[in-house]
Amino acid sequence: MIKRFYITTAIDYVNGQPHLGHAYEKIVADVIARAHRSLGQEVFFLTGLDEHGQKVQQAALADKKTPQEYCDALAADWLAFAKKLELTNDDFVRTTQPRHKEFVQAILSKLNDAGHFYKASYKGFYSAREETFLTDKDRRPDGTFDPSYGEVVELLEDNYYFKLGAQQQWLIHYLEANPSFVQPDYRRNEVLGFLKNNTLEDLCISRPAARLNWGIPLPFDPNFVTYVWFDALVNYISIPAAHGDKMVLAAAKSEIGNRKSEIELWPADIHVIGKDILKFHAVYWPIMLKTMGLPLPKQILVHGWWQKDGAKISKSTGNIVEPIAVIDEWGLDAFRFYVLRELDIGPDGNWTDAGFKSRYQAELANGLGNLVNRSLSMLKRYRNGIVPTPSNELSADAAKAADETRALLKQNQLQAALQSIWGLVTRANQYVDQTAPFKLAKDPSQEKRLDEVLYNLAETCRVLAVLLRPFLPGTSLKIYAQLGLNESPDKFSEATWGKLKSGHVIGEPAPLFPRKDV
Ligand code: MSP
Repeated sequence: MIKRFYITTAIDYVNGQPHLGHAYEKIVADVIARAHRSLGQEVFFLTGLDEHGQKVQQAALADKKTPQEYCDALAADWLAFAKKLELTNDDFVRTTQPRHKEFVQAILSKLNDAGHFYKASYKGFYSAREETFLTDKDRRPDGTFDPSYGEVVELLEDNYYFKLGAQQQWLIHYLEANPSFVQPDYRRNEVLGFLKNNTLEDLCISRPAARLNWGIPLPFDPNFVTYVWFDALVNYISIPAAHGDKMVLAAAKSEIGNRKSEIELWPADIHVIGKDILKFHAVYWPIMLKTMGLPLPKQILVHGWWQKDGAKISKSTGNIVEPIAVIDEWGLDAFRFYVLRELDIGPDGNWTDAGFKSRYQAELANGLGNLVNRSLSMLKRYRNGIVPTPSNELSADAAKAADETRALLKQNQLQAALQSIWGLVTRANQYVDQTAPFKLAKDPSQEKRLDEVLYNLAETCRVLAVLLRPFLPGTSLKIYAQLGLNESPDKFSEATWGKLKSGHVIGEPAPLFPRKDV
């Protein structure tokens, strides 16, 4: 059996509606998943929801629902959102599912039996909003805590702790020896800086059920539930277990899972996450895995945060982008294009409506849309839609874009790949202007030349459809349909020049990105 390319996203807290940041991360992961399928690999793409913990319990309370009712109602919206984004996820985890909860408990039992946990009392200042104990380092110069922590109360609590002390050194070595483990580099340096300049404190992995009961009970002490992060991170292996991945099942000594469908997923190839949750993924998660006896994920790919108009996205100030409204007005592919083209994976991004409209107009409507529409319309008008004899004037340009796109996608350089693809769009649009097929059509002595030009344009459109498939899935299919092709643009091997055969009759051209008054 061949191990699949396994890619995950962070699982979102289900304490509100999805926003731009959530959408961006899921689209990034989807493009990488689709790209690897186009490269011919078997892929498993996992996304889902983080449903336990204080944030969700409080949101449910405010909504006068039980946490489960609240999660069920919102999960339907989030699932619909994943569909709206046309994510090609192979499963959708909800951490309240029995398949996940049982696996978390199996892991907890195993680590407890192996002596990785201990029980201790702790007295400190607790922020319910941040679900964390604060230390003196969190105090402002005047000794108070920032209002963003909400109400801070002093608590004395018994809890279970995960011993981390002995783990710091190997993790530092691992990060140093494996530069691609955390990408981009500056995020890796951040983790290394943190590990080298701080002593890791043991991780509190429980919450007293008396204070917070919306969680997975500790299998060895029913007075406690599992800390939400310990629960959430395990989704990356509980779902492989549910699909019969032998490696994680063995690590948990667990019988959970459907033994009939055995697929190999672990170790994950990529965890796509935002910069705010790096420590959980690059420090706690590797340590959890090591103590379970499991290999580490191959890569943690860290994206930046979106702002809007240079300010934090925030519901309370009304500074938000409504992904669904944008998609309904401009189409999904326009939304996917903007976020991927505007922001590379790593730095922070800034959404502006003007920037969105200008990319729509320049790159989609006037760039790609115009190229495909005029190429196919001329083929229709001058040759009844019948593909002429192959010609390869643009084949080198197409091959360059295809090679670059493939190479860049293997390195998760989505923005650069789009730039390369648009290099071909621009080249082909210039080719129309230079060869002026509308003039050639008026001159009977130029019949052969016109055939050549029309072939080059139609075939370039086809290659573009293949290269664009991971990014703009609907547009890619539309181009194939307008070319009258029943084959699928799903494999990059189809990007080879010359697959459009002479005599083939194309379909109906139609604008891909209707121009809007902006
Ligand atoms: N539930 C945890 C993740 C657990 S993963 C085992 C969580 N949830 S979250 O809903 O707060 O965030 C989910 C993802 O969305 C994170 O990767 C986070 O970085 C990302 N984003 C949230 N707001 C964002 C922006 N404004 N911009 C880009 N991504 C952002 O953390």
